[in-house]
Amino acid sequence: MDISVKKIDLKTKSKFDSENFVIGEFSNSKSAQFKSLDKELSGLLTEAVEAENFKFDLGEVFTINLRKSEAEAAGLDSLRKILLVGLGDRSNFNKDLLKNERKAIAAAIRAAKIQKIKTLSFAVIKNPESVVEIAELVSYEFDKYKTKKDEDYSGLESLEICADSTAAAIKKSISEAQIIAESVNFARDLVWEPACTVTPTYLADVAKTIKGKGIKVKVLDKAQCEKLGMGAYLAVAQGSDQPPKFIEITYTAATYNEKRHKHLALVGKGVTFDSGGLSLKPPKSMEMMKEDMAGSAAVLGTMRAVSILQPKNIKITMIVAATENMPSGKAYRPGDVITAMNGKTIEVNNTDAEGRLTLADAVAYVSKYKPDAIIDMATLTGACMVALGNHCAGLMTNDQKLLDSVKKFADEKGELMWQLPLFDEYRVRLKSEIADLKNAGSGGQAGAQNGGLFVQEFVGDDDDGKQLPWLHIDIAGPCWFDEPNEWSPKGASGIPVRTLLSYIQSLS
Ligand code: BES
Ligand code: ZN
Ligand code: ZN
Repeated sequence: MDISVKKIDLKTKSKFDSENFVIGEFSNSKSAQFKSLDKELSGLLTEAVEAENFKFDLGEVFTINLRKSEAEAAGLDSLRKILLVGLGDRSNFNKDLLKNERKAIAAAIRAAKIQKIKTLSFAVIKNPESVVEIAELVSYEFDKYKTKKDEDYSGLESLEICADSTAAAIKKSISEAQIIAESVNFARDLVWEPACTVTPTYLADVAKTIKGKGIKVKVLDKAQCEKLGMGAYLAVAQGSDQPPKFIEITYTAATYNEKRHKHLALVGKGVTFDSGGLSLKPPKSMEMMKEDMAGSAAVLGTMRAVSILQPKNIKITMIVAATENMPSGKAYRPGDVITAMNGKTIEVNNTDAEGRLTLADAVAYVSKYKPDAIIDMATLTGACMVALGNHCAGLMTNDQKLLDSVKKFADEKGELMWQLPLFDEYRVRLKSEIADLKNAGSGGQAGAQNGGLFVQEFVGDDDDGKQLPWLHIDIAGPCWFDEPNEWSPKGASGIPVRTLLSYIQSLS
């Protein structure tokens, strides 16, 4: 999408050459923009609004189609459509400004799509970057495999932001918003793509396309992982014909100073297809298991944005232990005992609890670098969806401060997240008769927590022997939306790329 900023002063005579113009208005007061445009069009706006009894409720859109003669009479020769977007009551709107703004913008973008509008001009002043971000996110579509496409219309092509200045700061924030939204869409593409395409090798190849100053990509193969003792990750991989790929991307800002700045580790679950292994899933539960690499899509999307945005004063290490989880004559079995990279032994009581085994080695591996924080994101448990539904991720941590700061950005971005506990009382459920731990735990309750408690066993210590700050984000629910929301269509959501990028920007 082409994005541009234009300086426009609607308070005086509006001289603009847009074809389709979006203007947001409250139900209980009208802006100077609205009034001046209405005046220029000889009261046409108020007349149409009254005739339609349009109430400017939040998210409602009313399109006024102008006749050529009407537009010309007002000296607005090229203007054809005015999309009036309701913002609802002003004080209610301001109570949750960012969310309501997203709702209004999304409504306009969706209306534009229905009307097959190709170019749109937005009259906004407050947060122009939101328009760009939401436009890119809401108009996203994965139609690659549809052979019948609309030949006349392939979506919104250009977006113009009418701001009261064209200051460099506005341009910069708009271009950042676009990079961030495109990176979310990059992650969404990876989740939408079927598992016959997105294999561990494919993810490794995607990682290699991420280039830029300070970026290094390393991919370990099976033999290298064996040498490192990654028995948990490799046990999952052994049932598949697809070779495992352990992917590492580092970004080191040119300004990074080890003593003064933060080193952040991001770990994403990259199970490119989860059949359950020998503890085979029933067909309905397996249907969507291409999405089991959504954590890896999110960290790759984040690193793509990082490679372009080049945040200062930070180092980031991204890890994806990519594999398939398949049943076969070579597959790992329930009852097998395996050893993770940190030396802990694990009894496999369910081969479908494979994600935590891949994370165990990924988290143990990255702990060796002693980062300042480790954030893992994973489609880990169906139980988390039962607890929080499919719009909300589960957060679990050993460091409340880390969780609070990430959640603050999640709240701002509308990526719903909610904390779940990690009670010591439940650790006994991970006890095994034969090994240090068992992977699926026992008891069948608090499943999201069992997953979190298991992964925590593999988080290493800092130089003082204290466990490294760690945050676990279970995204089994919100990695895929069954219904659209105010910033996303149905399908792959790209969660939590926007939250992570806000957090990274706050550290830099
Ligand atoms: N990939 C699944 C979790 C999942 C479920 C993701 C639904 C997305 C949507 C995970 O590997 C899994 O199978 N977990 C098991 C754990 C159990 C065996 C302890 C589950 O949730 O049933
Ligand atoms: Zn599984
Ligand atoms: Zn899984």
